[in-house]
Amino acid sequence: MAEERPLARVTCTAPVNIAVIKYWGKRDNDLILPINSSLSVTLHQDQLKTTTTAAASRDFAEDRLWLNGEEADVGHPRLQACLREVRRLARKRRGGSAEDAAALSLSYKIHIATENNFPTAAGLASSAAGYACLVSALARLYGAAGEPSEQGQPSEQGQPSEQGQPSEQGQLSEVARRGSGSACRSMMGGFVQWQRGERPDGRDSIARQVAPETHWPELRVLILVVSGEKKQVGSTAGMQTSVDTSPLLKHRAEVVVPERLALMTRHIRERDFEGFGKLTMQDSNQFHATCLDTFPPIFYLNDISRQIIALAHRFNAHHGHTKVAYTFDAGPNAVIFTLADSVAEFVEVVRRSFPPAINGDRFVRGLPVGSASLPGELLAAVVTEPVPGGIQYILHTKPGPGPQLVDDPSQHLLGADGLPRRSP
Ligand code: DP6
Repeated sequence: MAEERPLARVTCTAPVNIAVIKYWGKRDNDLILPINSSLSVTLHQDQLKTTTTAAASRDFAEDRLWLNGEEADVGHPRLQACLREVRRLARKRRGGSAEDAAALSLSYKIHIATENNFPTAAGLASSAAGYACLVSALARLYGAAGEPSEQGQPSEQGQPSEQGQPSEQGQLSEVARRGSGSACRSMMGGFVQWQRGERPDGRDSIARQVAPETHWPELRVLILVVSGEKKQVGSTAGMQTSVDTSPLLKHRAEVVVPERLALMTRHIRERDFEGFGKLTMQDSNQFHATCLDTFPPIFYLNDISRQIIALAHRFNAHHGHTKVAYTFDAGPNAVIFTLADSVAEFVEVVRRSFPPAINGDRFVRGLPVGSASLPGELLAAVVTEPVPGGIQYILHTKPGPGPQLVDDPSQHLLGADGLPRRSP
């Protein structure tokens, strides 16, 4: 008689990433191939992460999915593409199409549960972390990958082998890309480039680590949460209209981005904050310029976003160099890069400029922030017309590692019966 096998369950966590050279526009909508390469910083999972448990069993009657405790549609074409591609990699790794009796059957139905430790609606790139986490958990479940990076170890990932073969994380980034373009960059820690690739089949459109998260220990990130509202035009639809109508986007992809990528990589390697910060702001501004150049135009920045931009420039002008750099994605929240020794002063400037209406004590979250008293001339030059309640809260974080395997079985989101542990 066949022995009872315990339910196969794997739990992984994955990070959010924020682009400093933006991805905007596809040359292939189905395979999610971009018109230009992009470069991002992976954020630390202590502050922002997705956790996903994937389980497979011959007893499951159908595939099922739960997002933050609510059952959701498992038939989404992008999710199905990820599932298909992970199984294909597993088959390849197992060496041929014949089923290995000892390995988990690729034909079993699966259950997936996924949760974010941050509000999904806050517009904080939840799909990137979500798909990176899904692919990491599935790959591990099916044996299509070894360990994601060891917990607590700096990750050196995505480096091609000497024969030019993509690394294992590189191959998995190709799968995560099928879920959401920016998700491929969440497959690695630190500073990550998504190379555009040339091939029509997308095999070379993968992520590659530029430097691990330990490379720039002083670098800090402040997320200024401006609005909890969902974005007006989603990135997928927005970038399609831009590709169809914006001549500026075409010029950006062909001429501007290739130059900027080389420059940004150098600034990161040299830990040159002046260069890194200035280019980060310029690239965010050009991305939003392509949105205005789209017809009909798309607006992601609001009045508060623009006030943050002006504030950052006043702050830098007062100090005579780039101390803070902003970047905005497809929504009004600002992400600020700075160095550890400037955090307390800038946070105080933000508090004075956008006095918290309520929750004054929870205005700053994440990594601790020291207190700073602002010199009178800085206040006079930088804090002009305060806007009470303009910013809901600030999340303080830093660069972090790529996806992690969770060893502790008590952390599985699915119980031994394959159903969500916490009720919605
Ligand atoms: C503005 O990766 O969300 O955040 O590939 O259609 O899923 P799809 O789009 P998505 O676009 C992200 C756009 C961006 C810039 C970036 O992250 O590079």
